[in-house]
Order: sequence, then structure tokens, then C-alpha cells
Amino acid sequence: MSRQPFPDLARIDAFDKVQGKTKYSSDVPFPDLLHAMTVPATIGKGMVTSIDVEHALAVPGVVRVLTPQDTPPPPPGPQGSPPPPPMLVHAIGYRGQPLALVVAETLEAAIEGAEAVRVSYAPEPFAVRFEDADAAREDTESPIFGEADAAFETATTRIEAIYTTTANHHNPMELLSTTAVWAGGRLTIYEGTQGSNGLKNTVAQLLQIDRALVDVISPQIGGGFGQRGEVPRHTAVVAQAARLLRRPVKLVMPRHQIFHNSRFRPHVQHAIKLGADANGKMISAHYDCLQQNSRRGRYRSDWYHAGPCKVYGIENYRGTSGDLRLDTHGPAQMRAPYEHPSAFAFESAVDELAFALGRDPVEFRLAHDTKIDASTGKRLTSRHLNECLTRGAEQFGWTGRPVQPGTLKAADGTMIGWGVGAGVYQAAMHPAIATLRVSANGTTRYASAGHEMGQGMRTAIAQVLIAGLRIDPARLTILIGDTTVAPQHSTAGSWGTASSVPVAVAAAEKMTAALEELLDGRTVNGNMHDQLARLRRPFIEVEVSMVAPGQGPEHLERLKTGGMAIAGLHGTYPDFTALSYIAHFVEVHVEPHTRRIRVPRVVSVADCGRVISPRTARSQVQGGVVWALGAALREMSETDPRYGGWLNADIAEYHVSVNADIGKIDVSFIDEPDFDANSAGVKGIGEIAMVGAAAALANGVFHATGRRIRTLPIRVEHLI
Ligand code: MOS
Repeated sequence: MSRQPFPDLARIDAFDKVQGKTKYSSDVPFPDLLHAMTVPATIGKGMVTSIDVEHALAVPGVVRVLTPQDTPPPPPGPQGSPPPPPMLVHAIGYRGQPLALVVAETLEAAIEGAEAVRVSYAPEPFAVRFEDADAAREDTESPIFGEADAAFETATTRIEAIYTTTANHHNPMELLSTTAVWAGGRLTIYEGTQGSNGLKNTVAQLLQIDRALVDVISPQIGGGFGQRGEVPRHTAVVAQAARLLRRPVKLVMPRHQIFHNSRFRPHVQHAIKLGADANGKMISAHYDCLQQNSRRGRYRSDWYHAGPCKVYGIENYRGTSGDLRLDTHGPAQMRAPYEHPSAFAFESAVDELAFALGRDPVEFRLAHDTKIDASTGKRLTSRHLNECLTRGAEQFGWTGRPVQPGTLKAADGTMIGWGVGAGVYQAAMHPAIATLRVSANGTTRYASAGHEMGQGMRTAIAQVLIAGLRIDPARLTILIGDTTVAPQHSTAGSWGTASSVPVAVAAAEKMTAALEELLDGRTVNGNMHDQLARLRRPFIEVEVSMVAPGQGPEHLERLKTGGMAIAGLHGTYPDFTALSYIAHFVEVHVEPHTRRIRVPRVVSVADCGRVISPRTARSQVQGGVVWALGAALREMSETDPRYGGWLNADIAEYHVSVNADIGKIDVSFIDEPDFDANSAGVKGIGEIAMVGAAAALANGVFHATGRRIRTLPIRVEHLI
């Protein structure tokens, strides 16, 4: 690939989206479609003693009510693997858990039927607040290297603090939905998912049918970010309803039910001790994180260390972590799931240490550049964090920033603060298989692994196909997220572009070589379609497959059977560590009387390797910064100690940032390829986008007011 920057092409799906033409999974029409509605548990924990469906069945249009007796119990998973989520069961683990599914001729009848189902319970005591956890902390082994205790003893400057990050919920525009269609003995599921092959496997397992009989189609997702990385409990229930009723069934889950049932970011308490020597070098870090989890939740507490144990090359590190078990649905991935909370805590602590040392926080970070991943001893591939910091400081106008807080003021008394925060995120990758067909009729068809979650994966693939092939871009079709066209790996962990682009480049190169072989030295005018037409060849099709560094054929096999086949988890490869980097600069304004916080401007500079699609990469960072500022100032999922579950379970009371909350976000990229990571030099942008931005804001609040707020979200009451 050439080293020229890619052109700033518009999203290939932009016009369809703004015209409302894009079809999401629940938009696919079917004659004979039935509508479903779930019946959620209204208690926090206990057993269902009876479900009375008589009144529901009396509602005109209701055709059936599925209860636990209509769904098979989950079969045991293969040896050593956890069982799949159950469908409908009598045991209630959390408020809002679906207990029954009402199926009707219309959505209105399904809703009315669901409200008419009478459930009797034997309630049990439950705990949903972090402070009410009734069980002891369960520890998980975490990274420990060097001699953190001894180094802390010798440190001449130390800080010690506890930070908390609150629970947060995903609120994408598209609601969770499933449409299940049985035809000719095959089941097809239309659902916005980040892992169509995983969903296929889980549904087949739960319904106890051959996975070869299940297709999953997920061409467009109205927001992924981790929420759609698991198979929701209701998916197989809808498929079971379609099987029993022999008609297509669709469920669109209302947002208030989604709050109780879908993945969320857990509440976490972060205890940090940092020590620096007489030269101002960080020589010791202790980091303990304690997160909320569900009773059987498998969301790991030790992964909060992934960033802090690598970012500044601190040689003595003692990580500890644990879970407190509560009666909610399982917490799990939500954009930069570990890195955003841990960077808030760690980058706040670094700011506190820099201040204690009387150092400028940018200069202090620049002094901690490293070539080595201290946690593994491996070489770091391309690391441009210092360029991100330097370029960001310049663009922001950081020079001349007073070290003392509370010194910058506007004419009307507004307190002004400038904060910085940095971050790292894994550069991971999965294997992929792609087929590319260029036809004499002017069309091009490309099929491979990946999911379009709105992040712009199709646009990134189109950029390299258009750059590498002389084809008609208007008649290029990119098929992803569909188990019928190519094996699908889950799309998450910021590995999308790094996994989908190198294989697309290879396919374009193979196509070019195949056409040259066909031309055999002859000169034929026109683009590839014209050339094929003149040579009377209807089409050329090529297939390529690709694995990540350190992977072999067994990983391709895992891809084909729908398993996870990631390389570079936490950036770790056999011979090196590959990470994306970012620096955020935030200006904070605090109104002197109400202490209302506003953020008029942010400057973010990212090193995500090669930028394939400048337009969508920039959008990712702008969106990530908005998420981080939302988490820092507004978003908070509050639990309900009276009834269980979540109290503010809708977007009227769970406050996401709106346009009026967002100032100028100036994004730029280092755009240096990392050819250790992959042949396209891509490291990934989706999650690094928000890492460190919440800390930059909190550090700005300190600079504006002298008040160090260690809890997110930061609210007016913290500053009064
Ligand atoms: Mo992401 S939180 O790994 O979809």
C-alpha cells in the first residue's frame, strides 16, 4: 500500500442514512409477521410461583404466551465452557428479567397482552447497591511486577487516593430487537449484533438444533460499542416462538427493559498509590480496583490493569482486583470498558503526583516515555504518545498555563481550567476470509467478516478497494455481518479496521494479479469491468484468507466455526506489544455562582496507526470524547434499593450529552503505520477515542477551582 494519506471520502452509507433508507434488522418486512413483547420480573430476586396467562390470551389478537415450560432448559456446554444463558426460567436473578413472551397479531395487542399476564412470586432479599453487597470481595489475580512496596518506601514524593466511577448504560439509537423466521427447516435471525456467528452458535445450542441450520443476518447496527457483543436472553425465546407458531416473530425491546437486561459498565472503586524518586521519576504504582458484578457474572476485574501497567513504563507495579456480587444483570463491555474507568483514576492520580512535584502535567508525562512494555518486558511497536502530547499541547495553546489552580478567570468571573489526560488501548486483530468478485456487468461484490455498527467499517473497506481496483465505486457492494456470505468473527475491542482492511487490500492485490494474468500482456482499454467485457469473461472471483501475527491455520478454523480467534489481547503478541495512544486536552469553565461546568473546547490527538478512513476515524474520536464527557458530567445509572434493578431506566432520567452540551472537539491523527501489527499498519481507534478524556476534564476542574473531584460524574454539588 502507498504511504499517501487516504482521501477524506464521505461515508458510503451516509446518503441512505440521512434519507432514512438504511434498513436495520427490525425494518425487514415479512408478510404474516407476529409481534412479541416480554413480561419482565417486577421483583429483585426470588421464584415465580405461578404465571396466569388467561387474561392475556383473552386480549384480541394475542395468539400465544410463552412461559418457562415452553423453552427447553439450557444444554450443558462443551467441557469446561460455561453454559449458554437460559431462556425463560422461574428463578429470578434481577428485576426486569424476562419471564414470559406474549405473541400477537399486532404490537398493540402484544403490549396489552404482556400487561395482562399475572405473575405470582416468592420474593427473596436482594442487594443492588455497591455498599449493600452482602458477600465478601472475591479477588482475581492481577499483574504484579518489580518491587512496588519497597520502591514506594524509597519514593520521595507520594500520593494516595481513592477514585470511583459509576455504573453507566448503553443508549444507542437502535433498540435491541430480534426477528426470527423459520422456512424450509432453516432458522434465519435478523438482529443487530456484533457477533453474528456467535449468535448463530448460541441459538442453535439453546434450541438444540444443528448450527448449520441457523443463519444470522446483521448488515447494519444502530450502535454497537459492546452492548451487542452477547446474545440477549430473549433472542432464542423469539426463535422458539417462531418455531412453535410457524410464523415470523419480531420483538423490539422497549428502552426501559433494555436498562435491566443489557450489558452495562459497572460501578468501580479504584485505590491508587504512586511514588516518585528525587528525580521526579515514577518508580512505584499500587492499583487496586473493586467492581460490582452479578452473582454469576464473568466480567473480569483484573483487566482494569491493562492500560496503567503499560502506559508509563513504571517498573514496580502491584495490581490487585476483586468483585462484589450484586443482584443485577451482568455488567460487561461498554466502549473502552476497562480503559475509560481505569484511565480516569490513573490519569487523575498522575496529575495529582505531577502537581505534588510542582511539574507541568504534559511535561511530566513526556518524561515517562518508554520503549518497553514494563508488564511483559516486550518491545513496544510504534509508540507516538509523546507526539500526541506535544502536538496537542501546541494546538491547544498550552504554553504559559499557570501551574497554580484557580488563577485563570474570565471577565465575568468564570473559573477556567486546562486539563490533560492520556491513554493506551490494545491493537488487536482477528483472522478473516474474503471473497471478491469483479464482473463485466459493472458490479463488484466483496464479502468478508465484520459488522457495521455505525463506526464506518464499510467505508474503510471501500476506501482500500477503491484505491486498489479500477472499479465503479457506485456499484460496489460490501457484504458483512451475514453468516451466509462469509465466516463472521465478533467485532469489538477496536479490532474492526485492523482485521477487515488488510484482507481487503490482499483481495484487491490478488484480483489485480488475476486480471493481469488474463490480459497476458495485451493492452485493453477501460476499467476492470470494461476489460472483462472486452475479454468476454463474465467475472473474476478471488478468495483470500489472513491471520494475525503469531496465528496459524487453527485460528482460521476457529473463525469458520464461529469461535473467538483474537490476537493482541491487551496488545500482547508473541514478539511485541502493539498499542494505540491518545492525548486529550480539555478546557473547563466553571460558573462562579452555580458552579455549572461547561466544556467549550477539547483537542484530541490520536496515534491509531494508519488512518484508513479519515472521515469515520474523526467521527469515532468526536463520539468517544462526547461519551467521556457524558460519563464525566452527566451519565449515572442509579440502582433502586427498594425494588431492585435500575431507577433511572430511560433517557429522560439517564442524561446523555446533547448538542448544547458539546463544544468544539478538534481531532487530529499522527497517521504513522504500524507494520508489526498488520500489513495495513492499522492499530484501531474506536475505544482509544475516549480513554483519558474524563480524567482530562477532572484535571481541568482541579485547575479551574483547586478542587480535586475523585468521583464520576462530577456534579454541581461537588463544587459548592
Ligand atoms: Mo467493545 S466495548 O469491545 O464492543
